[in-house]
Amino acid sequence: MASLNGKVVLITGASSGFGAAAARLFAREGCRVVLSARRKERLEDLAEEIRADGGKALAIACDVTRQEDIEALVKATLDAWGRIDVLFNNAGFGRLKWLDELAPAEDIDQQIDVNLRGAIQMARAVLPHMYAQGSGHILNMSSVAGWIASPLYSVYAATKFGLRGFTEALRREAAPFGVHVTGIYPGPAHTEFGHHTGNEAFKEQLAAPDWLSMSAEHVARAAVRLVKHPWLRRIILPWWFHPLLWLNSHCPRLVDFFLGQFTRRQRQR
Ligand SMILES: NC(=O)c1ccc[n+]([C@@H]2O[C@H](COP(=O)([O-])OP(=O)(O)OC[C@H]3O[C@@H](n4cnc5c(N)ncnc54)[C@H](OP(=O)(O)O)[C@@H]3O)[C@@H](O)[C@H]2O)c1
Repeated sequence: MASLNGKVVLITGASSGFGAAAARLFAREGCRVVLSARRKERLEDLAEEIRADGGKALAIACDVTRQEDIEALVKATLDAWGRIDVLFNNAGFGRLKWLDELAPAEDIDQQIDVNLRGAIQMARAVLPHMYAQGSGHILNMSSVAGWIASPLYSVYAATKFGLRGFTEALRREAAPFGVHVTGIYPGPAHTEFGHHTGNEAFKEQLAAPDWLSMSAEHVARAAVRLVKHPWLRRIILPWWFHPLLWLNSHCPRLVDFFLGQFTRRQRQR
């Protein structure tokens, strides 16, 4: 997909962070962007900003844990613009807690429902339209936590590893129909992600230092690059996570030791 001009790009989690930054960039590429998330006012403001900049944007509220919202979102997009070229499955959040301290419903089920089940159901809802078009691209937002699982992020890591497996399987399943499926795996970045960890005490201690964190725009640029060059299949960023991933595969005891020491010091009991 060399030029994105005129493509319809549906973005979940577009009310802040990577999703909002990606919406601005896709719109600047000439795409018609559909902004979805739960906070409608934020979406309306962003859609207004994009239109004022000469772009085309629709704001549609959608909670990805609700099947009826997903179906309404896809229908509203098709009613408005007749097609869906790109789905950016980006909505998600992470709780930073020991497993035994995660609440069964609002921490465990909700993370699985948003990060994994929501992304799967969104993909399932758009695929028939992409198959009928004979083209399309589903870009799934995983994380480096989909490669290296850290203590305190056990369920978050499970969702992001799960999304990586889903991405790989669906890539092979959808390719014969002209539909690309790719994954993006960012490390720490400046977004509102840290507001939803549910753990103020650890947030300060375990937050990546500022100089290690990427901007939301940096990650969004990688998302646009991946949609333009689907043969890349995945982008892991920043670059220095590549040697860490290698260490995790080939010297897991070293990584166990490091992550264990680092988090044990923070244990509050
Ligand atoms: N920041 C990082 O360090 C980092 C690193 C790697 C991967 N990620 C991943 O990047 C993605 C975006 O996160 P972010 O860092 O940009 O954080 P963010 O600023 O908090 O954005 C999260 C987005 O997800 C949406 N969302 C949450 N629950 C939702 C639901 N039930 N239905 C629909 N939308 C929902 C939020 O919108 P509403 O609240 O308005 O619904 C918001 O737009 C997530 O999948 C996250 O796991 C983040």
